[in-house]
Amino acid sequence: TMGGPTLLGMPVKQVSLITLTFQNSALILLMHYSRMMPPSGDHRYFTSTAIFLTEIIKLAISLTFAIYEVSRSLAPSTPATVIFEQIYNAVFSGDGWKLAIPACLYTLQNTLQYVAVGNLDPVHFQILYQLKILTTAIFTVTMLGRSLSPKRWVALVILTMGVSIVSIPSSGSKENSFMIHDMTDHFFPRSVHELGQVANGMGEVARELTKRTVDDLSDVGGTLMKRSATYEGIEEDQNLAPVMNYSIGLSAVIVAALVSGLTGVYFEKVLKDPASAASVWTRNIQLSFYSLFPALFVGIFFKDGEEIAKHGFFDGYNWVVWALILLQAFGGVLASLCINYADNIAKNFATSISIVISFLFSVYFFNVGVSLTFLIGTVLVLVSTFLYSGPDRKRGRPPPINIVN
Ligand code: C5P
Repeated sequence: TMGGPTLLGMPVKQVSLITLTFQNSALILLMHYSRMMPPSGDHRYFTSTAIFLTEIIKLAISLTFAIYEVSRSLAPSTPATVIFEQIYNAVFSGDGWKLAIPACLYTLQNTLQYVAVGNLDPVHFQILYQLKILTTAIFTVTMLGRSLSPKRWVALVILTMGVSIVSIPSSGSKENSFMIHDMTDHFFPRSVHELGQVANGMGEVARELTKRTVDDLSDVGGTLMKRSATYEGIEEDQNLAPVMNYSIGLSAVIVAALVSGLTGVYFEKVLKDPASAASVWTRNIQLSFYSLFPALFVGIFFKDGEEIAKHGFFDGYNWVVWALILLQAFGGVLASLCINYADNIAKNFATSISIVISFLFSVYFFNVGVSLTFLIGTVLVLVSTFLYSGPDRKRGRPPPINIVN
């Protein structure tokens, strides 16, 4: 049997980690689809409004659990006003203001995630986003003052190699080569770059056999969109299928990974502060509440204000966008439970397993072949993730077992 805290009778830690794995794949695939599908009407939905509504829904979910939690701790006939007063005091007294910082950072991260997923195929995005394991480690060491075992440092080096190999675009995508070569020359050792070249050569053989590379995903996706556009009676138009820009996607995912590590560790630090008694639901209410301000003033008014005034807040909304918003709000709650009952490292581990799900989904539904370079990079990322997340080997022998006569 599994120990630990339960919620509605289920072991929270295990259930939230497993659910996050599936939520993450579904979110990335749906988010990518929502940026590629033909827009309902003449305009695609505004991501700033989706981010704002996600926080509203997460706030509602957190408030519901907070009411449940507080009412359970009080006498059955306690009036609702007392329950709300307790929640209000917990949210707006003490160190609640501290959540304003991760709230701004998560809003930035969510904005960047939309940009990255709109410009990269889902599998590429997820593998590159594993860089957040590296940034989480760096911030865990510097902000939480924990130290990492040599095994974990080795895992991080392998991770960086794997990610850099995956980030080298396969031959044939000319528009991508400039920035990537620039970046790999700059950030990654020469030998890794050359390893990529060698693997690329070997990849030619594999490519010859499969005839498709991961880059084809966008083509296949685009064809599917056009087909569904025709099906829905919308005229075929080149402008309907947006062009993906690899450089923009790569830059966005790198910055998002940086912000993810910083914010996740900050949230964990505040949540597990022994001097504070605030529950994960109180922290989530604070986080969502403070997120509404940057989401509204920076995202909706400043970034998209002019266009929203012209087209309307809900322009381009359909059931896909609503499903995406619900799934992301649910995912935020799951992420917070993973950080609370396990930690950021376990959370990243869970989402790395979801790479395999997205990968199989893409191969099966989009008929995507993969290059050898891509496969080698992916295997390195997965191996490093398991290496990083696995238990550290204890030095010396295990204590002797006492045999009682
Ligand atoms: O990529 P990463 O795992 O850092 O993403 C975490 C996601 O979970 C972000 O979209 C963030 O907005 C969300 N989150 C949340 N509430 C928390 C922690 C994370 O909504 N307490």
